[in-house]
Amino acid sequence: MKIRKLVLVGPVRLSGEVQISGSKNATLPIMAGALLAQERCVLHNVPRLKDVETMARLLRVLGMEVKEDYPTLTITPRRAKKTLAPYSIVRTMRGSFCVLGPLLARHKRAQVSLPGGCVIGVRPVDLHLKGLAELGAQIKVEGGYVIASTRGLKGAKIYLGGMFGSSVLATANVMMASTLADGVTIIENAACEPEIEDLARFLNKMGAKISGAGTPWIRIEGVKRLTGAEHTVIPDRIEAGTFLIAGAMTRGDVVLKGADPQHLGAVLDLLKRTGVGLKVYRDGRIRVKGKRRIISQNVATLPYPGFPTDLQAQFMAMMSIADGTSVITERIYPDRFMHVPELNRMGANIKREGPYAVVQGVRHLKGAPVMASDLRASAALVLAGLSAKGRTDISRIYHLERGYERLKEKLKGLGAELWEEKE
Ligand code: EPU
Repeated sequence: MKIRKLVLVGPVRLSGEVQISGSKNATLPIMAGALLAQERCVLHNVPRLKDVETMARLLRVLGMEVKEDYPTLTITPRRAKKTLAPYSIVRTMRGSFCVLGPLLARHKRAQVSLPGGCVIGVRPVDLHLKGLAELGAQIKVEGGYVIASTRGLKGAKIYLGGMFGSSVLATANVMMASTLADGVTIIENAACEPEIEDLARFLNKMGAKISGAGTPWIRIEGVKRLTGAEHTVIPDRIEAGTFLIAGAMTRGDVVLKGADPQHLGAVLDLLKRTGVGLKVYRDGRIRVKGKRRIISQNVATLPYPGFPTDLQAQFMAMMSIADGTSVITERIYPDRFMHVPELNRMGANIKREGPYAVVQGVRHLKGAPVMASDLRASAALVLAGLSAKGRTDISRIYHLERGYERLKEKLKGLGAELWEEKE
Protein backbone atom coordinates (compact mmCIF):
# COMPACT_ATOMS: atom_id res chain seq x y z
CA MET A 1 0.00 0.00 0.00
CA LYS A 2 1.21 3.46 -0.89
CA ILE A 3 1.27 5.35 2.42
CA ARG A 4 0.11 8.94 2.11
CA LYS A 5 -0.42 11.78 4.50
CA LEU A 6 -2.81 14.69 4.42
CA VAL A 7 -1.44 18.19 4.79
CA LEU A 8 -3.73 21.01 5.93
CA VAL A 9 -2.95 24.67 6.38
CA GLY A 10 -5.10 26.62 8.80
CA PRO A 11 -6.89 28.42 10.11
CA VAL A 12 -9.60 28.46 7.50
CA ARG A 13 -13.18 29.63 7.66
CA LEU A 14 -15.25 27.06 5.76
CA SER A 15 -18.04 28.47 3.66
CA GLY A 16 -20.36 27.24 0.92
CA GLU A 17 -22.53 24.24 0.19
CA VAL A 18 -21.66 20.60 0.59
CA GLN A 19 -23.51 17.49 -0.58
CA ILE A 20 -23.89 14.70 1.98
CA SER A 21 -23.36 11.15 0.67
CA GLY A 22 -25.25 7.94 1.37
CA SER A 23 -24.72 6.30 4.74
CA LYS A 24 -21.81 3.89 5.10
CA ASN A 25 -23.33 2.16 8.11
CA ALA A 26 -26.67 1.71 6.37
CA THR A 27 -25.05 0.46 3.15
CA LEU A 28 -22.93 -2.30 4.72
CA PRO A 29 -25.73 -4.35 6.37
CA ILE A 30 -28.02 -3.69 3.39
CA MET A 31 -25.37 -5.18 1.08
CA ALA A 32 -25.22 -8.21 3.41
CA GLY A 33 -29.02 -8.35 3.25
CA ALA A 34 -28.81 -8.82 -0.52
CA LEU A 35 -27.45 -12.32 0.26
CA LEU A 36 -31.01 -13.25 1.29
CA ALA A 37 -32.50 -12.43 -2.10
CA GLN A 38 -33.15 -14.94 -4.85
CA GLU A 39 -32.93 -12.24 -7.49
CA ARG A 40 -31.00 -9.09 -8.29
CA CYS A 41 -30.95 -6.15 -5.87
CA VAL A 42 -30.21 -2.59 -6.95
CA LEU A 43 -29.00 -0.03 -4.41
CA HIS A 44 -28.83 3.71 -5.00
CA ASN A 45 -27.08 6.52 -3.11
CA VAL A 46 -24.23 4.17 -2.18
CA PRO A 47 -21.07 6.04 -1.17
CA ARG A 48 -17.82 5.09 -2.86
CA LEU A 49 -15.75 4.10 0.14
CA LYS A 50 -13.05 1.57 0.99
CA ASP A 51 -15.46 -0.23 3.37
CA VAL A 52 -18.12 -0.53 0.69
CA GLU A 53 -15.52 -1.90 -1.75
CA THR A 54 -14.42 -4.39 0.91
CA MET A 55 -18.02 -5.56 1.37
CA ALA A 56 -18.38 -5.87 -2.41
CA ARG A 57 -15.25 -8.04 -2.43
CA LEU A 58 -16.69 -10.24 0.32
CA LEU A 59 -20.00 -10.66 -1.52
CA ARG A 60 -18.08 -11.78 -4.60
CA VAL A 61 -16.21 -14.36 -2.51
CA LEU A 62 -19.66 -15.49 -1.32
CA GLY A 63 -20.76 -16.11 -4.89
CA MET A 64 -22.57 -12.88 -5.72
CA GLU A 65 -21.98 -10.75 -8.79
CA VAL A 66 -21.50 -7.14 -7.73
CA LYS A 67 -21.49 -4.32 -10.25
CA GLU A 68 -20.07 -1.13 -8.78
CA ASP A 69 -21.35 1.85 -10.69
CA TYR A 70 -21.37 4.44 -7.90
CA PRO A 71 -23.69 5.67 -6.52
CA THR A 72 -25.46 2.53 -7.74
CA LEU A 73 -24.64 -1.06 -6.87
CA THR A 74 -26.20 -4.07 -8.53
CA ILE A 75 -25.94 -7.34 -6.64
CA THR A 76 -26.96 -10.53 -8.41
CA PRO A 77 -26.92 -14.00 -6.86
CA ARG A 78 -25.14 -16.74 -8.81
CA ARG A 79 -25.80 -20.44 -8.40
CA ALA A 80 -22.85 -21.26 -6.17
CA LYS A 81 -23.63 -21.75 -2.49
CA LYS A 82 -20.57 -20.24 -0.89
CA THR A 83 -20.77 -19.75 2.84
CA LEU A 84 -17.23 -19.01 4.01
CA ALA A 85 -16.31 -15.43 4.92
CA PRO A 86 -12.51 -15.50 5.24
CA TYR A 87 -10.35 -13.91 7.93
CA SER A 88 -8.39 -11.99 5.30
CA ILE A 89 -11.46 -9.84 4.61
CA VAL A 90 -13.43 -9.86 7.87
CA ARG A 91 -10.44 -8.75 9.95
CA THR A 92 -10.13 -5.57 7.89
CA MET A 93 -13.73 -4.51 8.52
CA ARG A 94 -15.97 -5.55 11.39
CA GLY A 95 -19.10 -4.55 9.46
CA SER A 96 -18.58 -7.66 7.33
CA PHE A 97 -19.55 -9.86 10.28
CA CYS A 98 -23.19 -9.16 9.46
CA VAL A 99 -23.09 -11.63 6.57
CA LEU A 100 -23.45 -14.34 9.23
CA GLY A 101 -27.23 -14.00 9.74
CA PRO A 102 -28.15 -13.86 6.02
CA LEU A 103 -25.86 -16.78 5.07
CA LEU A 104 -27.28 -18.93 7.85
CA ALA A 105 -30.88 -18.11 6.96
CA ARG A 106 -30.43 -18.64 3.23
CA HIS A 107 -28.04 -21.60 3.13
CA LYS A 108 -28.53 -23.11 6.60
CA ARG A 109 -24.85 -22.87 7.31
CA ALA A 110 -22.16 -20.24 7.52
CA GLN A 111 -18.52 -20.01 8.45
CA VAL A 112 -17.54 -16.46 9.24
CA SER A 113 -14.22 -15.35 10.66
CA LEU A 114 -14.29 -13.64 14.06
CA PRO A 115 -13.43 -9.99 13.44
CA GLY A 116 -10.76 -9.72 16.12
CA GLY A 117 -9.64 -6.65 18.04
CA CYS A 118 -10.01 -3.05 16.99
CA VAL A 119 -8.40 0.19 18.09
CA ILE A 120 -11.64 1.62 19.46
CA GLY A 121 -12.06 -1.22 21.95
CA VAL A 122 -12.76 -4.91 22.52
CA ARG A 123 -15.96 -5.15 20.45
CA PRO A 124 -17.24 -8.66 21.26
CA VAL A 125 -19.85 -10.50 19.14
CA ASP A 126 -21.61 -12.41 21.94
CA LEU A 127 -24.97 -10.73 21.28
CA HIS A 128 -24.89 -11.71 17.60
CA LEU A 129 -24.24 -15.34 18.57
CA LYS A 130 -26.79 -15.38 21.39
CA GLY A 131 -29.52 -14.07 19.09
CA LEU A 132 -28.79 -16.57 16.34
CA ALA A 133 -28.58 -19.45 18.84
CA GLU A 134 -32.01 -18.49 20.17
CA LEU A 135 -33.33 -18.76 16.63
CA GLY A 136 -32.17 -22.37 16.71
CA ALA A 137 -28.70 -22.22 15.18
CA GLN A 138 -25.94 -24.54 16.39
CA ILE A 139 -22.90 -22.38 16.88
CA LYS A 140 -19.32 -23.23 17.62
CA VAL A 141 -16.14 -21.22 17.48
CA GLU A 142 -13.18 -23.06 15.95
CA GLY A 143 -9.86 -21.83 14.65
CA GLY A 144 -10.98 -18.22 14.82
CA TYR A 145 -14.16 -18.89 12.87
CA VAL A 146 -17.80 -18.92 13.90
CA ILE A 147 -19.33 -22.03 12.42
CA ALA A 148 -23.10 -21.92 12.43
CA SER A 149 -25.61 -24.40 11.09
CA THR A 150 -29.30 -25.12 11.37
CA ARG A 151 -31.94 -27.51 10.09
CA GLY A 152 -34.25 -24.52 9.93
CA LEU A 153 -34.44 -21.36 12.02
CA LYS A 154 -37.45 -20.88 14.29
CA GLY A 155 -38.94 -17.57 15.39
CA ALA A 156 -38.31 -16.69 19.04
CA LYS A 157 -38.53 -13.90 21.57
CA ILE A 158 -34.99 -12.59 21.94
CA TYR A 159 -33.66 -10.04 24.40
CA LEU A 160 -30.69 -8.40 22.67
CA GLY A 161 -29.26 -5.98 25.23
CA GLY A 162 -25.72 -6.12 26.61
CA MET A 163 -23.51 -4.24 29.06
CA PHE A 164 -23.52 -1.20 26.80
CA GLY A 165 -27.14 -1.34 25.73
CA SER A 166 -28.34 -2.39 22.31
CA SER A 167 -26.09 -3.46 19.45
CA VAL A 168 -26.54 -2.13 15.94
CA LEU A 169 -25.02 -4.96 13.94
CA ALA A 170 -26.29 -7.73 16.26
CA THR A 171 -29.80 -6.34 15.69
CA ALA A 172 -29.09 -6.33 11.94
CA ASN A 173 -27.79 -9.92 11.99
CA VAL A 174 -30.69 -11.33 14.00
CA MET A 175 -33.30 -9.32 12.11
CA MET A 176 -31.94 -10.55 8.76
CA ALA A 177 -31.77 -14.18 9.91
CA SER A 178 -35.31 -14.17 11.26
CA THR A 179 -36.85 -12.93 7.99
CA LEU A 180 -36.65 -16.53 6.70
CA ALA A 181 -37.31 -18.26 10.04
CA ASP A 182 -40.40 -20.29 10.72
CA GLY A 183 -42.83 -18.20 12.79
CA VAL A 184 -42.61 -14.86 14.56
CA THR A 185 -39.50 -13.31 16.12
CA ILE A 186 -39.56 -10.45 18.57
CA ILE A 187 -36.28 -8.63 19.22
CA GLU A 188 -36.37 -6.78 22.54
CA ASN A 189 -33.93 -3.99 23.24
CA ALA A 190 -33.26 -3.76 19.52
CA ALA A 191 -31.01 -0.96 18.30
CA CYS A 192 -33.15 2.02 17.18
CA GLU A 193 -30.58 3.55 14.83
CA PRO A 194 -31.88 4.91 11.48
CA GLU A 195 -29.55 2.43 9.76
CA ILE A 196 -31.62 -0.44 11.24
CA GLU A 197 -34.82 1.20 10.07
CA ASP A 198 -33.34 1.56 6.59
CA LEU A 199 -32.30 -2.10 6.55
CA ALA A 200 -35.84 -3.12 7.56
CA ARG A 201 -37.27 -0.96 4.77
CA PHE A 202 -35.01 -2.70 2.26
CA LEU A 203 -35.88 -6.19 3.58
CA ASN A 204 -39.61 -5.38 3.47
CA LYS A 205 -39.23 -4.40 -0.18
CA MET A 206 -37.79 -7.89 -0.67
CA GLY A 207 -40.95 -9.36 0.83
CA ALA A 208 -39.96 -9.59 4.51
CA LYS A 209 -42.58 -8.80 7.17
CA ILE A 210 -40.88 -6.54 9.67
CA SER A 211 -42.59 -4.00 11.88
CA GLY A 212 -41.32 -1.81 14.71
CA ALA A 213 -37.82 -1.17 13.28
CA GLY A 214 -36.60 2.13 14.73
CA THR A 215 -38.06 1.19 18.15
CA PRO A 216 -36.62 -1.17 20.82
CA TRP A 217 -39.16 -3.87 19.85
CA ILE A 218 -38.95 -5.32 16.37
CA ARG A 219 -41.41 -7.95 15.18
CA ILE A 220 -40.48 -10.18 12.26
CA GLU A 221 -42.85 -12.67 10.73
CA GLY A 222 -40.85 -15.25 8.82
CA VAL A 223 -41.52 -15.78 5.10
CA LYS A 224 -40.51 -18.60 2.74
CA ARG A 225 -38.44 -16.60 0.26
CA LEU A 226 -37.22 -13.09 -0.45
CA THR A 227 -37.10 -11.52 -3.87
CA GLY A 228 -34.83 -8.87 -5.35
CA ALA A 229 -35.51 -5.20 -4.57
CA GLU A 230 -34.46 -1.69 -5.43
CA HIS A 231 -33.60 0.71 -2.62
CA THR A 232 -32.12 4.16 -2.01
CA VAL A 233 -29.81 4.32 1.02
CA ILE A 234 -30.41 7.05 3.64
CA PRO A 235 -27.95 9.95 3.95
CA ASP A 236 -24.93 9.58 6.21
CA ARG A 237 -25.79 11.26 9.51
CA ILE A 238 -22.21 10.94 10.78
CA GLU A 239 -20.77 12.63 7.70
CA ALA A 240 -23.44 15.33 8.13
CA GLY A 241 -22.55 15.78 11.80
CA THR A 242 -18.86 15.99 10.93
CA PHE A 243 -19.51 18.83 8.45
CA LEU A 244 -21.75 20.64 10.94
CA ILE A 245 -19.01 20.52 13.54
CA ALA A 246 -16.46 21.58 10.91
CA GLY A 247 -18.58 24.64 10.05
CA ALA A 248 -19.06 25.53 13.71
CA MET A 249 -15.47 24.97 14.68
CA THR A 250 -13.97 27.03 11.85
CA ARG A 251 -16.46 29.87 12.57
CA GLY A 252 -17.66 29.23 9.05
CA ASP A 253 -20.95 29.36 7.20
CA VAL A 254 -21.79 25.99 5.70
CA VAL A 255 -24.96 24.62 4.13
CA LEU A 256 -25.50 20.85 4.04
CA LYS A 257 -27.53 19.44 1.19
CA GLY A 258 -29.01 15.96 1.14
CA ALA A 259 -28.72 15.25 4.89
CA ASP A 260 -31.75 14.16 6.90
CA PRO A 261 -32.27 16.57 9.83
CA GLN A 262 -34.63 14.02 11.45
CA HIS A 263 -31.62 11.81 12.16
CA LEU A 264 -29.61 14.60 13.76
CA GLY A 265 -31.76 15.64 16.73
CA ALA A 266 -29.17 15.14 19.49
CA VAL A 267 -26.40 16.65 17.36
CA LEU A 268 -28.35 19.78 16.43
CA ASP A 269 -29.45 20.27 20.04
CA LEU A 270 -25.91 20.00 21.37
CA LEU A 271 -24.51 22.33 18.73
CA LYS A 272 -27.20 24.90 19.50
CA ARG A 273 -26.15 24.84 23.14
CA THR A 274 -22.58 25.67 22.10
CA GLY A 275 -23.96 28.92 20.69
CA VAL A 276 -23.64 28.31 16.94
CA GLY A 277 -26.31 29.51 14.52
CA LEU A 278 -28.33 26.66 13.02
CA LYS A 279 -31.18 26.70 10.59
CA VAL A 280 -33.06 23.77 9.10
CA TYR A 281 -34.84 24.69 5.85
CA ARG A 282 -38.10 23.11 4.66
CA ASP A 283 -36.27 21.26 1.89
CA GLY A 284 -34.01 19.58 4.47
CA ARG A 285 -30.91 21.72 3.94
CA ILE A 286 -29.12 22.62 7.17
CA ARG A 287 -27.11 25.80 7.63
CA VAL A 288 -24.51 26.17 10.35
CA LYS A 289 -22.97 29.52 11.16
CA GLY A 290 -20.10 29.46 13.60
CA LYS A 291 -19.69 32.13 16.26
CA ARG A 292 -16.45 33.53 17.62
CA ARG A 293 -17.23 32.23 21.09
CA ILE A 294 -17.89 28.51 21.43
CA ILE A 295 -19.60 27.65 24.71
CA SER A 296 -18.32 24.46 26.40
CA GLN A 297 -20.86 21.66 26.78
CA ASN A 298 -20.76 18.30 28.51
CA VAL A 299 -21.90 15.33 26.52
CA ALA A 300 -22.26 11.56 26.92
CA THR A 301 -22.49 9.25 23.94
CA LEU A 302 -25.54 6.98 23.90
CA PRO A 303 -27.34 4.67 21.52
CA TYR A 304 -29.70 6.46 19.09
CA PRO A 305 -31.50 8.83 19.55
CA GLY A 306 -28.70 9.92 21.92
CA PHE A 307 -25.49 11.63 20.82
CA PRO A 308 -23.55 9.16 18.61
CA THR A 309 -20.19 7.72 19.59
CA ASP A 310 -19.18 8.18 15.95
CA LEU A 311 -19.16 11.97 16.52
CA GLN A 312 -17.48 11.96 19.92
CA ALA A 313 -13.96 12.58 18.60
CA GLN A 314 -15.08 15.40 16.29
CA PHE A 315 -17.02 17.11 19.10
CA MET A 316 -14.00 16.80 21.36
CA ALA A 317 -11.91 18.62 18.76
CA MET A 318 -14.47 21.43 18.87
CA MET A 319 -14.57 21.54 22.67
CA SER A 320 -10.79 21.81 22.72
CA ILE A 321 -11.16 25.42 21.46
CA ALA A 322 -14.31 26.24 23.44
CA ASP A 323 -14.66 28.77 26.20
CA GLY A 324 -14.58 26.76 29.46
CA THR A 325 -14.33 23.13 30.50
CA SER A 326 -16.35 20.20 29.22
CA VAL A 327 -16.61 16.58 30.28
CA ILE A 328 -17.08 14.09 27.48
CA THR A 329 -18.28 10.65 28.55
CA GLU A 330 -17.97 7.68 26.20
CA ARG A 331 -20.66 5.16 27.12
CA ILE A 332 -20.53 2.93 24.03
CA TYR A 333 -16.79 2.29 23.61
CA PRO A 334 -15.04 3.30 26.87
CA ASP A 335 -11.62 3.09 25.15
CA ARG A 336 -12.44 5.19 22.11
CA PHE A 337 -9.98 7.97 22.96
CA MET A 338 -7.06 7.47 20.57
CA HIS A 339 -7.51 11.05 19.39
CA VAL A 340 -6.77 12.54 22.83
CA PRO A 341 -2.95 12.44 22.68
CA GLU A 342 -3.00 13.62 19.06
CA LEU A 343 -5.23 16.62 19.85
CA ASN A 344 -2.95 17.38 22.78
CA ARG A 345 0.01 17.43 20.35
CA MET A 346 -1.82 20.29 18.65
CA GLY A 347 -2.05 22.26 21.87
CA ALA A 348 -5.35 20.97 23.26
CA ASN A 349 -5.65 20.46 27.00
CA ILE A 350 -7.46 17.15 27.46
CA LYS A 351 -7.14 14.71 30.34
CA ARG A 352 -8.59 11.27 30.07
CA GLU A 353 -9.76 9.29 33.08
CA GLY A 354 -11.42 5.95 32.20
CA PRO A 355 -14.46 6.63 30.02
CA TYR A 356 -14.26 10.39 30.68
CA ALA A 357 -12.29 13.12 29.00
CA VAL A 358 -12.02 16.51 30.63
CA VAL A 359 -11.43 19.15 28.00
CA GLN A 360 -10.16 22.54 29.08
CA GLY A 361 -10.69 24.85 26.13
CA VAL A 362 -7.66 26.74 24.74
CA ARG A 363 -7.67 29.88 22.54
CA HIS A 364 -6.53 28.07 19.45
CA LEU A 365 -4.83 24.88 18.31
CA LYS A 366 -1.46 24.85 16.54
CA GLY A 367 -0.58 22.71 13.54
CA ALA A 368 1.58 19.65 14.22
CA PRO A 369 2.41 16.25 12.74
CA VAL A 370 -0.21 13.79 14.04
CA MET A 371 -1.30 10.26 13.36
CA ALA A 372 -4.74 8.95 12.38
CA SER A 373 -5.72 5.84 14.36
CA ASP A 374 -9.24 5.08 13.20
CA LEU A 375 -11.91 6.58 11.03
CA ARG A 376 -13.61 9.02 13.38
CA ALA A 377 -10.42 9.97 15.25
CA SER A 378 -8.96 10.89 11.86
CA ALA A 379 -11.96 13.09 11.12
CA ALA A 380 -11.39 14.86 14.44
CA LEU A 381 -7.78 15.56 13.45
CA VAL A 382 -8.89 16.98 10.10
CA LEU A 383 -11.28 19.36 11.89
CA ALA A 384 -8.54 20.31 14.34
CA GLY A 385 -6.15 20.93 11.44
CA LEU A 386 -8.65 23.19 9.64
CA SER A 387 -9.03 25.42 12.68
CA ALA A 388 -5.41 25.31 13.87
CA LYS A 389 -2.77 27.90 13.11
CA GLY A 390 -0.16 26.62 10.67
CA ARG A 391 0.48 23.29 9.01
CA THR A 392 -0.86 19.94 10.19
CA ASP A 393 0.38 16.68 8.70
CA ILE A 394 -1.96 13.76 9.31
CA SER A 395 -0.35 10.42 8.58
CA ARG A 396 -2.16 7.13 7.83
CA ILE A 397 -5.07 8.84 6.10
CA TYR A 398 -6.29 5.57 4.61
CA HIS A 399 -8.56 5.44 7.66
CA LEU A 400 -10.46 8.44 6.32
CA GLU A 401 -11.12 6.75 3.01
CA ARG A 402 -12.99 3.98 4.79
CA GLY A 403 -15.81 6.30 5.70
CA TYR A 404 -15.77 9.76 4.09
CA GLU A 405 -16.54 9.96 0.40
CA ARG A 406 -14.41 12.52 -1.47
CA LEU A 407 -13.60 14.31 1.77
CA LYS A 408 -10.68 16.26 0.31
CA GLU A 409 -12.74 17.53 -2.61
CA LYS A 410 -15.68 18.44 -0.40
CA LEU A 411 -13.47 20.39 2.00
CA LYS A 412 -11.67 22.13 -0.87
CA GLY A 413 -15.07 23.16 -2.20
CA LEU A 414 -15.66 24.88 1.14
CA GLY A 415 -12.37 26.74 0.90
CA ALA A 416 -9.97 24.48 2.80
CA GLU A 417 -6.31 24.39 1.85
CA LEU A 418 -5.21 20.77 1.84
CA TRP A 419 -3.36 18.22 -0.24
CA GLU A 420 -1.85 14.76 -0.07
CA GLU A 421 1.83 13.93 0.13
CA LYS A 422 3.84 10.72 0.24
CA GLU A 423 4.87 9.78 3.77
N1 EPU B 1 -21.40 -5.19 22.07
C1 EPU B 1 -21.37 -6.31 22.89
N2 EPU B 1 -21.62 -7.51 22.34
C2 EPU B 1 -21.92 -7.67 21.01
C3 EPU B 1 -21.95 -6.53 20.19
C4 EPU B 1 -21.69 -5.30 20.74
O1 EPU B 1 -21.13 -6.18 24.08
O2 EPU B 1 -22.14 -8.81 20.59
C5 EPU B 1 -21.13 -3.86 22.64
C6 EPU B 1 -20.00 -3.13 21.96
O3 EPU B 1 -18.73 -3.55 22.44
C7 EPU B 1 -20.32 -1.69 22.27
C8 EPU B 1 -21.84 -1.69 22.22
O4 EPU B 1 -22.24 -3.05 22.39
O5 EPU B 1 -19.91 -1.39 23.58
C9 EPU B 1 -22.44 -1.14 20.96
O6 EPU B 1 -21.78 -1.68 19.82
P1 EPU B 1 -22.56 -2.05 18.50
O7 EPU B 1 -22.69 -3.53 18.39
O8 EPU B 1 -23.82 -1.25 18.43
O9 EPU B 1 -21.54 -1.57 17.39
P2 EPU B 1 -21.43 -2.18 15.93
O10 EPU B 1 -22.79 -2.58 15.51
O11 EPU B 1 -20.37 -3.20 15.88
C10 EPU B 1 -21.88 0.02 14.60
C11 EPU B 1 -21.15 0.90 13.65
C12 EPU B 1 -20.05 1.65 14.39
C13 EPU B 1 -20.68 2.46 15.51
C14 EPU B 1 -21.48 1.53 16.43
C15 EPU B 1 -22.22 2.25 17.52
C16 EPU B 1 -21.32 -0.23 11.52
C17 EPU B 1 -20.63 -0.93 10.41
N3 EPU B 1 -20.57 0.11 12.57
O12 EPU B 1 -20.94 -0.93 15.09
O13 EPU B 1 -19.47 2.55 13.44
O14 EPU B 1 -19.68 3.10 16.25
O15 EPU B 1 -22.45 0.80 15.64
O16 EPU B 1 -23.13 3.16 17.00
O17 EPU B 1 -22.49 0.06 11.43
C18 EPU B 1 -17.79 3.86 12.45
O18 EPU B 1 -18.55 4.07 11.49
O19 EPU B 1 -16.73 4.54 12.60
C19 EPU B 1 -18.12 2.85 13.45
C20 EPU B 1 -17.23 2.34 14.30
